[in-house]
Amino acid sequence: MDSGTTTTPGTPQRNRFLANSLLLHLRPARVPLRAIRFTHTFGLGGMAMVLILLLMGSGLLMGFVYDPAPERAYRSILVLQEDVLFGRLIRGIHYWSANLLVIVAGLHLLRVFLTGAFHGPRRSNWLIGLGLLFSILLSAFTGYLLPWDQLSYWAITVSTEMLTYVPIAGENLKYMILGGESVGPSTAVVFYTTHSTVVPIALILLMTWHIWRVRLAGGVVLPPAGDGPADNDEYVPFIPDLLMREVSVALILIAFIVVLAIVFSAPLGEPANPGLSPNPAKAPWYFLGVQELLLHFHPLFAVVVIPVVFIAALVAVPFLRYEHDVAGDWFLTPRGKRLAAVAAIVGLVAAPLLVLVDEYAVGPEGWLPGMPPLISQGAAPTILTFVALAAFYRYLRNRLSASRNETVQALFVLLVTCFLVLTVIGIWFRGEGMALVWPWQI
Ligand code: HEM
Repeated sequence: MDSGTTTTPGTPQRNRFLANSLLLHLRPARVPLRAIRFTHTFGLGGMAMVLILLLMGSGLLMGFVYDPAPERAYRSILVLQEDVLFGRLIRGIHYWSANLLVIVAGLHLLRVFLTGAFHGPRRSNWLIGLGLLFSILLSAFTGYLLPWDQLSYWAITVSTEMLTYVPIAGENLKYMILGGESVGPSTAVVFYTTHSTVVPIALILLMTWHIWRVRLAGGVVLPPAGDGPADNDEYVPFIPDLLMREVSVALILIAFIVVLAIVFSAPLGEPANPGLSPNPAKAPWYFLGVQELLLHFHPLFAVVVIPVVFIAALVAVPFLRYEHDVAGDWFLTPRGKRLAAVAAIVGLVAAPLLVLVDEYAVGPEGWLPGMPPLISQGAAPTILTFVALAAFYRYLRNRLSASRNETVQALFVLLVTCFLVLTVIGIWFRGEGMALVWPWQI
């Protein structure tokens, strides 16, 4: 019988010892039972990590076959799918992991925000998280072009065309990103290098820093103590209690992606044809909210002013002064939960309504006919939107006596809901000529 005292190299005891020491440098030895409840974080940060690792693994394998030269790229994808053992599956895993990562990272951002885990000691990690989100979008965007089919070629053409609306630097910015006037061989070099080297390195560095900062802040934010059996101050060992949960979530996620990749192959359309633009020509799905804004606001406001204000708000939000340091509970307080629900309903009703009003009631000259487009289609609707948001803020603060934490949260929920509604309209309700249609008419 094993006495449990043998320490010769290669024995299970020594391996367990090594695993324990490595893992326990990264993670605490004991964790509060309250913090590891699945519904507290939904394991979203861990899922994002797993997806990034899946992307790197599958991307590395595809790199052996993929040829980034525009005239050979499409063909190399066909070879990967048709002639390479498990090639189609690996491409599917890469495709689904990339799309799911955008969603999972977005949901993780929401969970962090809605549990108030973004200020105090977690402020810097919120900023690192924003860097991660930017890198993920950049990775998904640069990868989009690589198959060189009609969909990818025109999606990148449409998205980079949006940059020309940036004042002064727009044309140069587009030139720099495309490596020329339009999507071509230099674009392939820029996108492939960014996608396969620059972004993965940035992701690994930022992810390591991010996880380390979670530990530095004392672990994930703790939900307030309650009366339930898992609500006391009980601590459990990281191994096996938390590790087993994390491994289970990772395995379920991997199985889900593999099944998705088997059932739904990654799309591949006709080879890119620069002379034949599809109608409608849409940006990748995660930019369709911005493309939808372009249909309602002057381009300067849709592509520059509104996104810049939104990004600045995301950066600034941990630095606002809050009355309460409440954090850890979903939606902070029962009133916070009610206000967030009201904000979501307002967004769900107001966003489609405004799209319909702008589409059918407001003429092509915009909200102030006779005025220059920059005012009538840009400044006027933008100022109107900001006034409405300010009125909503004041109403919650003054009339409903909501705290600043609860009000900022409600405003955030309202904006996120509006953005999601615009994205859904862009994906499923825009057909030929970007006209409003039903999803089955696209
Ligand atoms: C690749 C993307 C990301 C990965 C791999 C990642 C990973 C993680 C992990 C593993 C945790 C601890 C467990 C958990 O909360 O689920 C965490 C916490 C955190 N993340 Fe992320 N994250 C990513 C993106 C983001 C983004 C986009 C933000 C927000 C802008 C963000 C902000 C935070 C903050 C503030 C915490 C601490 C939360 C707390 O203490 O409760 N992360 N992240």
